[in-house]
Amino acid sequence: MDVTIFGSGYVGLVTGACLAEVGNQVICIDVDEDKVAMLNAGGVPIFEPGLDDLIAKNRQAGRLRFSTDPDEGVAHGLFQFIAVGTPPDEDGSADLRHVLAVAKSIGERMTGYRVIVDKSTVPVGTADRVAEAMRAAQSERGHHIDFDVVSNPEFLKEGAAIEDFMRPDRIIVGTDNPRTGELLRALYGPFNRNHDRVMVMGVRSAELTKYAANAMLATKISFMNELSNIAEAVGADIEMVRVGIGSDPRIGYQFIYPGCGYGGSCFPKDVRALEHTATTSGYKAELLQAVEAVNHRQKERLFSKIERHFEGALQGKTFALWGLAFKPNTDDMREASSRRLMEQLWAAGARVRAFDPVAAEEARRIYGERSDLELVENRMDAIEGADALVIVTEWSEFRSPNFADIKAQLNTPVIFDGRNLFDPTQVTAAGVTYVSIGREP
Ligand code: UGA
Repeated sequence: MDVTIFGSGYVGLVTGACLAEVGNQVICIDVDEDKVAMLNAGGVPIFEPGLDDLIAKNRQAGRLRFSTDPDEGVAHGLFQFIAVGTPPDEDGSADLRHVLAVAKSIGERMTGYRVIVDKSTVPVGTADRVAEAMRAAQSERGHHIDFDVVSNPEFLKEGAAIEDFMRPDRIIVGTDNPRTGELLRALYGPFNRNHDRVMVMGVRSAELTKYAANAMLATKISFMNELSNIAEAVGADIEMVRVGIGSDPRIGYQFIYPGCGYGGSCFPKDVRALEHTATTSGYKAELLQAVEAVNHRQKERLFSKIERHFEGALQGKTFALWGLAFKPNTDDMREASSRRLMEQLWAAGARVRAFDPVAAEEARRIYGERSDLELVENRMDAIEGADALVIVTEWSEFRSPNFADIKAQLNTPVIFDGRNLFDPTQVTAAGVTYVSIGREP
């Protein structure tokens, strides 16, 4: 089948590469000329395991192309995916400018029936606005050609996006036209082999499903973070509590890891956007507000622990930081807990010496050159002569360090662990003070 994808960002590239991989002819359109030139020269602008190989293979096979030309894009695909960004507005709502610009562009140019597929995470009601924008563009051009708008939210996890696309838990198709539902079912056929994972529902239900999933996961995390603070207050061990409650299959073990807060481009933005949608629809979403507030506070938790340990004397101290990315296997630092921590440390007059397996470039891009940030090439270089080690991201290579070496290199042998990577008895047996989440007063 012929597929056009507007937006060669994270979602657009993964969707394009995976749809090409199963034999579709895919064109990805992006307004960013540099990005398209890079993709056409064999480069990939984002870090996602397996994506570069998949793109290279399908380009070579002639099934995947990149272009800046919307005429070519609209002429090509029966399916016109919209996978452009929806950056949050100041009030937390999603900014639909790019989505509606693509809708207008398709409306102006189409000469035959098209299925417009909203893949970007967009608020409830967006499909209607896309349809309106297309109708307005068509009227301006004096033509009226049939189309359908489908909500088909993505559920990709950064770092596992290819796997998630190829073997999805569910494929949500929101449409009010059963015939369009069948077209999408056919497109997703290759990913829907063993069990039927396609769920066809109304457009608004599909749009809400995306936010509901992320808000539920964020709620689980904030709940556990709140509980970790209670555990500290009452002298309990949150890791024991986690295992204890996770064994109940109604609760489950997933997404109940306490830590120094959730980050990334999805949870923080989606929780705020859903809360905003609720408010503008006349409902005060108090639980979502609390999820957001608890997360905000949790991102400052490590700093409070550090400040308490050093009795406020942070001026001139150097902190080794392991992990900059908002989670392992990505270089993404959007809303990462490391950022709030570093900013608090800098404000207190401390220096940061950071190591991350892939996100150093991204940190350089965000913060530029500054005298209180040093980015080093390996984890032990970060520690040498530092006043403490702080762990913010749970990269697997941080999981089994040699604690004796850490003790020898640090000025003060103390680890602040925002991801509870270690067994406290093992760390303290090596003579290192261990401060983690939800496990000590
Ligand atoms: C999230 C969802 O997990 C995906 O299902 C969804 O498709 C995606 O958003 C999206 O909307 O595009 P992602 O943001 O890539 O995926 O990352 P997650 O693995 O969900 O992690 C988010 C944050 O939660 C990280 O900062 C992580 O450290 C934190 N987290 C996760 C915890 O603090 N505790 C946990 O138990 C799990």
